[in-house]
Parts: sequence; C-alpha cells; structure tokens
Amino acid sequence: MLPLKEKDKPIVQKLLSAGCCARCVLRFCCVSVHAPYRQPQEEILKQLRAFISDTSSGQDSSESNRAETEAPTAAGSETCDDPPCKRAKLEPGVDPGQPEVQAAATRQEDGDSHVCVVCLGVLQELCGTVQASKIAEAVKSENYEFDAMVLSVSLPAQLCVREHSCWLHVKKEVREKAMVLSKDDVVQVKEAFKWIMQGLVAKELGGVAVVTKSPFEVGVEFTHPDTDSDCHFLASTCPDCFKPTKNKESVFTRMAVVKALEKIPDARFLRHYPSPPARPGASCSPQDVQCLHLSVFVAGRYNKFCRSLPQTPWLIDGERRMESSVEELIAAPILSGFRADGFNFSSSGREDVDVRTLGNGRPFAMELLNPHRSSFSRVQMKQLQEAINASSDKIRVRDLQVVSREAMSRMKEGEEEKTKSYTALVWTQKTIRREDIRFIDDIKDLTLDQKTPLRVLHRRALAVRQRVIHSMSTRFLDPHHFYLGLKTQAGTYIKEFVHGDFGRTTPNLCQLLSSDTDILELDVESVDVDWPPAIPE
Ligand SMILES: *[C@@H]1O[C@H](CO)[C@@H](O)[C@H](O)[C@H]1NC(C)=O
Ligand SMILES: *[C@@H]1O[C@H](CO)[C@@H](O)[C@H](O)[C@H]1NC(C)=O
Ligand SMILES: [Zn+2]
Repeated sequence: MLPLKEKDKPIVQKLLSAGCCARCVLRFCCVSVHAPYRQPQEEILKQLRAFISDTSSGQDSSESNRAETEAPTAAGSETCDDPPCKRAKLEPGVDPGQPEVQAAATRQEDGDSHVCVVCLGVLQELCGTVQASKIAEAVKSENYEFDAMVLSVSLPAQLCVREHSCWLHVKKEVREKAMVLSKDDVVQVKEAFKWIMQGLVAKELGGVAVVTKSPFEVGVEFTHPDTDSDCHFLASTCPDCFKPTKNKESVFTRMAVVKALEKIPDARFLRHYPSPPARPGASCSPQDVQCLHLSVFVAGRYNKFCRSLPQTPWLIDGERRMESSVEELIAAPILSGFRADGFNFSSSGREDVDVRTLGNGRPFAMELLNPHRSSFSRVQMKQLQEAINASSDKIRVRDLQVVSREAMSRMKEGEEEKTKSYTALVWTQKTIRREDIRFIDDIKDLTLDQKTPLRVLHRRALAVRQRVIHSMSTRFLDPHHFYLGLKTQAGTYIKEFVHGDFGRTTPNLCQLLSSDTDILELDVESVDVDWPPAIPE
C-alpha cells in the first residue's frame, strides 16, 4: 500500500496525465518513506492507478479525466491572473485538455512507456538493477580498496526548471493537502535516486556500506542535451545569475539555475515556460562513472646522502638537469603502494642540491591524490619504508606514517622559530692554527643581517632578514681547513654567513677571521621540528 491520503488524489491524477513517472508522483506527494520508491515502477504505477480509480467509486475514468481537464485552468487563474499566462497554458501539447495529451495519457494507461517530463528518465529505467550493476562494474574495474562509499548524483540543470514547472502545476493541490507543505517538501530526484540505488549498488559490490559520508565517492552523472535550452529563458530574467566562470562549459550551472528560479515570479515563469513541462523524446544519457578517493596524507623524515640530488625535479627551460630528486625517490614506492594518481610534496625547509641531510632527517609530508588503496597497518607502513630505503642509496626515510590534513600544517607552523644544526667544511685563505679559531666556540646568539642572497634573488624578494646563530663549534683540520658546527634559527643562510656574499651578510666568517673564507661542503645535522611523531622501531 502506498502511504497516500485522500487529498493526494488530485495531485496523482494531474501528474500522471501531465506525463510524470510513478516515482515523481510519489515525490510530489511528499512521500518520504523509502520503501515505496524501491518497488518496480510498473508496480508503483499500478498502485497509483488503483488508488485514483478507487475514489471515482466505480465511476469510469472519463470523469476523473474531465476533472483533470478543468484543474489547470483553475490553478492558472489562481497563480496568475494576467492573460499572457493563460496563453502559455493553452499552447498545444501543454494543456492537458488537448487531444494530443489525452492520447498520451491513454497510451500511458495502456502501459506504453514514455519518458517522464520531470526526471527525464532518471527515476525510470536509469534507476534499477541494470544501472546498479553498470555502476558496480565501473567501480570494480578501477580496483579501489574500500569498505564504504558515497554515491553522488549529478543531474542536468534543466531538471530544476522542469521541477519548478511541475510544482506550479500542482502547487494549489499540494497546498490544499496541507498548508504547511512547500516546494522544499517535495522529495528531490537526487534523493529518491539514492534511496533506490544505494542498496542495489551495495549489493552488486558484495555488501560494501553505501553511506552519506566517506572519503570514497562514486559519481553518477546524467546529461540531456535535447532539453539544455530549457534553462535559456532564465538568462533574461536574471542576468546576474549567469556570469561566465572559468572551467565551466556552460553558464547554466545547477546553482545558477536554482538562484534564478528563486527570483523569478510565478507569473513570469509561466509566460516563458510551459506548465507542466513538454514531453521529452528520450531519457537522459548516463555519463562515465567517476570514482574519486579523497587525498591521503603521509609524513616522515628523510635523510639525503648525496651532493648531487635536488629536493624537487630540477628543470631549466623544461629540460631536466638532474636525473632524479628527493621527492621523486620517496614518492615512487609510496605512489605505487597507495596506487595514487599523483602527489604533492612539502617539507620543513629544504636543502640545496649539494647539501646532505643527516641525523634524524628532515620532516616531510605528501598529499596522495586519489589513492586506490588507503588503509595501511603499521607493519605495512614499515614495509613501505623499507622499500624506499632499499630503492636508492641516496636517501633514507624514517617515521613514515599516515597523518591527517590538519596535522600537516603543524610542520609549517612556527617554522621560523625552530632551530637547525649544520656542519660546514670551511676553507681559509690565511693559514690558521688550532688556537686561531677557538674563540668562535665562545660566540653565542650572534645576530646576522642577511640581505637576500644573490643566488636566490631571482625567486625571493630583496630584503634584509635578521637571523640568529645560537652557537658554533670548531674542529681544526689543517692550516687551511676546519669544520664549523652551527646551531641556528631556521632560515639562516649558512653559505652566505661563511663567504659573506660580497658583504651582503654581516657579520660573516671572513670578518670574524680577517681572512677570505669559503664553504666547501655543508651538511644539515638536524631539523628540530617535533613533527611527525617518532615511531619506535
Ligand atoms: C598541492 O598543494 C598546494 C598547496 O596546498 C595546492 O594549492 C595544490 O592545489 C595542490 N596540488 C594538487 C595537485 O592537489
Ligand atoms: C630506513 O632507514 C632509516 C635511516 O637509516 C632507518 O632509521 C629506518 O629504520 C629504516 N627503515 C626500514 C624499515 O628499513
Ligand atoms: Zn520522473
């Protein structure tokens, strides 16, 4: 039994003869229980017919047909009094009183299938086991690993126009049913579609949960090019609603159409658009099913043991200068493990191509785009880390873990306040003795003024930045070389502190030693950022 009341009868009658499908009739009767929609549409139609003929209490259906014929005129004179509106209603093929439409209604009575004037077939043959199995096959072919999914539906924008037209057609009857009901109480095509399809798709996929919130989304899209022009009249009624936007094929987006429909007075709408809507020739076309898994974020720390490896691919005029990069070496095994489409790499600062990163390494994080696998146990993460370690001698990774998008920002916040430790191999022009450099060990919290280094001036604005060297230590090597250990504020340019950058960094090591000095090698010893959390071995 359908959950319909006596007052639904005129609505059902009007909608059926207007060419609405059985499920759209339920929607406009504001039926919000799911089960009735899930029955085969022929079954719902049968019940709807039984329901209306039941009231005509034995009378033949011609009487109810006559009642329908009068209804639109009554509705028309109530919703708008100006003549143009009535003219619109009398357009051939629109007025249910026209023979053509009556013929169509009769065809429908005969069980002849026709495409619904409102949902354009979406709640008819596009909504059932055949379609569910097509969706499931498309999902399976993409090889995602998941135990829950969201079904999202994209409908052509003109469905809103048709919905509005149909609403105006039965507005009076719905209001008579209950004054509190409004257009918002009509069940949306999208909702009804999901009520019917979610369970069917879930079953086809072997019992995954089809839920309202999940990082894995399966998108079903329908288009109906034949009726795209349904929306066009709205452009003149609300020019502001339809502004060209980037990346959009048409200005008639669903949002813009909804906005325009909210603004347009009923009378004006009815002058430009038939109510009920004209009958379409064919159903919507289902587009390719789109699967998308939200990004997964992975973080860790990396060591770099090579003095000829850039952090990111090094391209000059589109030409590769180095065969690999830190991010590519780390990303390759992770991408194949998560079977992601791409990645976005970021780290806590970066080192130059000729600088090694030792110690506990540099924190990094990666956004993995559209991962086909997203669930990794601790042991599996460890195996992934091992695979990265084994893939190259140039880098190593530790503390590899899945993190949240929010946690990633912790890596960047307060970056300037963090300290970093370095070891530099320094050359001096003047010969030095062990005791000549010892005074450097006593220097604490030396503030530098660093003009943007010449070598980065092409990508960073010219500015003077103050940075602090917290402490230094020396290790004598020979009369022209020593190792200089530095603990500095993040963002200090070490190379420039050593060679002076033509006086652009002051004070600098040349001034301190009264000698020309240069930096031969540099290693990052530690990046003191306490994120991501260490993972015990
Ligand atoms: C990479 O991250 C940046 C910054 O978070 C973001 O603007 C960009 O869209 C991301 N790229 C991709 C391909 O997601
Ligand atoms: C990878 O290398 C790092 C650095 O040497 C080490 O700490 C970590 O334990 C290694 N991980 C695995 C799983 O081999
Ligand atoms: Zn329909």
